[in-house]
Amino acid sequence: MKTVISNNGGPAEVVINSRGAAGGAEAMWRREDDLVCPDDHFDGRIGIHDHITDAIADPDPVRLAPDLICLRFEVMKVRSALGAVRQLLDTGTIRPGDTLVDSSSGIYALALALACHRYGLRCHIVGSATVEETLGTQLEILGATLERMPPSDDLRLDQSRRVERIRRLLAERPHYHWMRQYHDPIHYDGYHQLAGGLDRALPPGPVTLIGGVGTGASTGAFAEGLRGAGREVRLIGIQPFGSVTFGAEQTEDPDMIIAGIGSSIEFANVRHELYQQIHWIAFEYARAGAVALLRDSGIFAGLSSGAAYLVSRWERGRAPGRTVVFMAPDTGHRYVTAAFAAHREVPPLDDLVPRDACCPSELTTPWSVADWCGVAADWATADIGAA
Ligand SMILES: Cc1ncc(COP(=O)(O)O)c(C=O)c1O
Repeated sequence: MKTVISNNGGPAEVVINSRGAAGGAEAMWRREDDLVCPDDHFDGRIGIHDHITDAIADPDPVRLAPDLICLRFEVMKVRSALGAVRQLLDTGTIRPGDTLVDSSSGIYALALALACHRYGLRCHIVGSATVEETLGTQLEILGATLERMPPSDDLRLDQSRRVERIRRLLAERPHYHWMRQYHDPIHYDGYHQLAGGLDRALPPGPVTLIGGVGTGASTGAFAEGLRGAGREVRLIGIQPFGSVTFGAEQTEDPDMIIAGIGSSIEFANVRHELYQQIHWIAFEYARAGAVALLRDSGIFAGLSSGAAYLVSRWERGRAPGRTVVFMAPDTGHRYVTAAFAAHREVPPLDDLVPRDACCPSELTTPWSVADWCGVAADWATADIGAA
């Protein structure tokens, strides 16, 4: 028997599940009433897009359980890059043929190159020497130029070198436009535009929104937009250990840094006051989340998505009556060797729990959580107060 949830999350009925029981791992954690509709909801309509960015800019919300939704993106920052570039064109700040430049080694580089491809602009990316081959090749074919900066063990030095390089470029070529994804609030706009549609798609009632925080634009803008639409939103941010953004620079992750989230410098685009809780998650646990997400739902996503899934599962048990929505910003392809290959070794998610932290010195790997009152200064000085 299987409980069917209607498209709008409304009244449930009970039918026979022709595919038999839900998948193994999934069945172990889902509650009795969690099983999702076997109907594929296809309504026969296929739209034709004018450009690939239109096809991939918006998330595919996937219901994993009645109260658990994954916002799955192929390349999350496309909507943000499109919104920013469109606005710069509309205001006459840039014109077709101009060159947009920024520092990125991840999905922003691809998103910006795609937005430039769409609007007839040039794109120059200052990235690290370790930009992976799939991204580097795509950028090259898209016509973007990629400058690979030599790597160092010091992330802060890496960041400041890239900024220095961009400053030099701008001095030589004043017509270049520096996008400043870390600091320019223009990157919120595209996501704000999406939030209304997201609000209409979600079941009514309070929402807990969970996602990795890099620049903070995606989680921040979605929370602002949903709140602006009248939703009660609890925003939970995810960080890697070692990130300065929420004051964890003194605790290192011995394994790999989770790509795209956290920072070694302050980002003006992070609006700390929007978050109610922060989780710090090590590579090992994010990987367990990513493997479980694929196993449970079929969604092949990256490490920040895996970390968000882990937190969603934990949060969900503690927040009855709320819809938990988590972000999956990229696909899992670039993590196959480093993360997914060892999938047999990952611990079951239900065995993993976070340690509560009240101040930076209480942060411990592999998973810590702190209630974030929204005032970064309190957190940073809590150790001094406790001493
Ligand atoms: C894989 C991944 N997850 C999460 C994020 C965080 O997004 P944001 O910069 O909007 O905070 C990023 C940012 O690049 C990312 O690459």
